[in-house]
Amino acid sequence: MASVPFDKLDGHIWMNGEYVKWADANVHVLTHGLHYASSVFEGERAYGGKIFKMTEHNERLHRSAEILGFEIPYSVQEIDDACMGLLQKQGLKDAYVRPVAWRGSEMMGISAQSNKINLAIAIWEWPSYFSPAEKLKGIRLDVAEYRRPDPATAPSKSKAAGVYMICTISKHAAEAKGYADAMMLDWRGHVAEATGANIFFIKDGEIHTPTPDCFLDGITRRTVIGLAKDRGINVIERTIMPEELAGFEQCFLTGTAAEITPVSEIGADRFVPGEITETLMNDFTALVNPAAAKAAE
Ligand SMILES: Cc1ncc(COP(=O)(O)O)c(C=O)c1O
Repeated sequence: MASVPFDKLDGHIWMNGEYVKWADANVHVLTHGLHYASSVFEGERAYGGKIFKMTEHNERLHRSAEILGFEIPYSVQEIDDACMGLLQKQGLKDAYVRPVAWRGSEMMGISAQSNKINLAIAIWEWPSYFSPAEKLKGIRLDVAEYRRPDPATAPSKSKAAGVYMICTISKHAAEAKGYADAMMLDWRGHVAEATGANIFFIKDGEIHTPTPDCFLDGITRRTVIGLAKDRGINVIERTIMPEELAGFEQCFLTGTAAEITPVSEIGADRFVPGEITETLMNDFTALVNPAAAKAAE
């Protein structure tokens, strides 16, 4: 956790087409996005000065906004250019990239037909610091009380701020009990994902992962499925019931922030990160950060 609050970091933020000093990148308290969660965002990561799958992320940002009924007034290409320009201006190579789009303060009520759509991008330093050996010990997950909602109840395919409300509540509840994070079930009681990462299990040399029908089909998730297939490992996307957890040998999370994070326990079930998890972690590092992979050889 950064000791400096995020609003006190250095540098610039790209805001509606201009570079604004970090401390001056503010919005009014009567911003629709703040009151009604009319806000979508992305989480991207730069390795060695290159943003991994940047265009895919910025395309998802556009789609997330469309699902919430608004159009970002910058093309994907313009957002890509803004991300790369800001990365250079910030002088960073290994960093987290956070574009966020929201409805402004022109109208205050549920209807926001004439509110301006704003876009900002912030980039801060974020090295990938955990040693593989440390990571391989695995993290402990609680099981969340909240469930991922039915797509008929919430825009579950949008990376929308409002959908994260249950994630923060669930992560805080898990942390209060000494866990690192929580695994969430979906509205039907199927295994879904963690609060900010997708989940995978391994049994008998095969990988099992829930079908992403009511949560994000993560860009890292798809990348890892590709890496596993390249290794000739069978990947089965299917409904996974919580009662099945006891039968799995290994478990890991995937996400832009999590990368590949092994899991050692979920509630009463235990997992031992093994060869497949380690191989995929190494393959992932070699893909996103070839220089770091070479240095670790
Ligand atoms: C709820 C949730 N699921 C899954 C993911 C993984 O998505 P990605 O791999 O595209 O970062 C994220 C992170 O963005 C997330 O917040």
